[in-house]
Amino acid sequence: MEIKRKLFLLFSIMLILSSYIWLKDVVEPGWKKYQEEYYEQKRKGVEKELENAKGAEEIEKLKVKLAKLQKPKYEIKQILLLGEYSWANQRNGQKVDRCMTCHIDEGKLKASHNTVVKTFPFDIYGCSVCHGGSGRALDVEQAHHNIFKHKRDMRKRLENSDAIFAMWEEFATLSPEEEIEWGDFKNRTITGEKAIYMGSGRCLRCHTGLTAPHVERWKRVKFESFRVIQEAPDFIDGDENYRKTCYECHTTGYDKETGTYAEEGITCEACHGPGEVFGYFMDLGRALDGAKIARITPAYNVCGSNTGCHRSRRHEKRVKYFRENKELDPYEWFKPKYKRLVDEFLNESVEMNIINKLDVIKSHYKLKN
Ligand code: HEC
Ligand code: HEC
Ligand code: HEC
Ligand code: HEC
Ligand code: HEC
Repeated sequence: MEIKRKLFLLFSIMLILSSYIWLKDVVEPGWKKYQEEYYEQKRKGVEKELENAKGAEEIEKLKVKLAKLQKPKYEIKQILLLGEYSWANQRNGQKVDRCMTCHIDEGKLKASHNTVVKTFPFDIYGCSVCHGGSGRALDVEQAHHNIFKHKRDMRKRLENSDAIFAMWEEFATLSPEEEIEWGDFKNRTITGEKAIYMGSGRCLRCHTGLTAPHVERWKRVKFESFRVIQEAPDFIDGDENYRKTCYECHTTGYDKETGTYAEEGITCEACHGPGEVFGYFMDLGRALDGAKIARITPAYNVCGSNTGCHRSRRHEKRVKYFRENKELDPYEWFKPKYKRLVDEFLNESVEMNIINKLDVIKSHYKLKN
């Protein structure tokens, strides 16, 4: 009897204790203090502004702001990640990131992620796709379980190609924009920056010996592509704007925004993509990991498509130039296989329908390439 009563008492105490802890968590959840700190800081800031404010209108605005901050709404902040399948179903996805419940200062986050946010906006991609951790959790320890924190940690994720593939695939499923293929992410690092071109010198160091026939073939022809345009009369005659239209295809890593390129000519990375990440694997002696990425890089499959270099209307501008400069011999500057077409084109009267003629060339190019 005595033991039973003691046990009952013990259980009762435990029950009351755990109910208390549970209740306390509901009324006063752990994450609340981070929001309190944040609003407190904001409030102090506005109070200071108010002290120094002059115009009546400004003062009124600040007062409204202050009133809101004095009675802030403490709540769970979350991003429902709109995955591919759920997007099609017009539903929210299964995945939810609540990191912002504690990391509530958006301004600060934006500042520390200035390269990242432009490419991977938080409201679409959330946080855990890059940082790992457990997006749903509201407790520091749980949320940060297996998290990647700093730049160095983030770069660590790039040390394994499986992790990169998983991340790319997740980025792709989270992307609501139809235009973005998952290949697009492969030209970015996890820090949001564009992946860096290493220059063919780096590749040649190993591949001159490893894959000699392939290397020799491209070195003889494509690597020389910049020299070829430099000798062309229309290029020499053209201003910088004209020349820039040539760089897109005759250099490696041309950036339309800045008008700069990584290397002259069509070198290894023009076709295999910027080598920062896969070159890194190869340098580490984990070439097979690198080869997986080098092989499927987006540049690899676009050659003849309407974004690739071998697209049909690539030399529209040039033909026009030679038509206007009849004293030059165009056949020196177009491959012999285009002789008949160029011939016809140049000898037509000026009123010729350019678009139609270029369509002829277009279909011809399609056959040849
Ligand atoms: C319950 C509150 C809370 C939640 C939820 C939370 N964090 Fe944190 N986090 C903190 C606190 C507090 C710190 C700073 C102290 C520390 O390093 O533990 C921090 C630090 C970090 C840091 C490192 C900052 C540094 O410089 O060391 C990263 C990165 C981070 N959190 C990411 C996340 C991500 C991603 C999530 C969601 C998966 C998340 N956090 C969820 C409270 C939280
Ligand atoms: C595209 C990848 C990416 C996404 C998405 C991302 N981060 Fe980060 N985050 C980074 C990188 C890279 C760093 C390291 C920045 C540095 O150290 O220069 C970082 C650093 C941090 C830090 C430490 C620096 C600081 O501001 O104190 C915190 C905290 C953090 N992230 C939280 C978050 C939260 C919360 C989200 C979601 C709202 C998020 N991150 C989304 C890549 C990302
Ligand atoms: C440290 C030496 C090294 C460097 C530097 C290097 N590679 Fe490699 N690469 C290798 C090795 C080793 C292989 C595996 C070859 C094999 O499959 O037998 C490889 C494989 C490849 C493959 C895939 C081959 C396949 O099987 O499909 C490509 C493409 C490639 N490299 C391109 C590049 C490019 C482009 C660069 C320059 C940005 C580069 N590599 C830099 C050593 C290197
Ligand atoms: C859309 C891509 C693209 C653009 C833009 C481009 N080229 Fe080319 N160019 C090529 C390709 C591909 C070849 C390879 C030869 C072929 O098969 O037609 C080439 C070859 C050439 C040749 C060698 C002769 C020939 O017909 O093969 C010259 C000269 C040349 N380009 C000059 C220029 C100049 C000058 C510009 C700028 C006004 C320019 N290209 C813009 C893709 C382009
Ligand atoms: C004009 C585009 C182009 C250029 C430039 C190019 N590659 Fe390739 N590369 C390809 C294509 C397409 C394949 C796959 C088909 C094939 O084997 O030809 C390939 C295959 C490879 C392979 C695997 C096949 C093999 O031969 O072992 C390696 C390794 C490679 N490339 C490395 C390089 C390196 C290093 C450079 C620079 C010296 C380079 N590539 C330049 C397009 C290119």
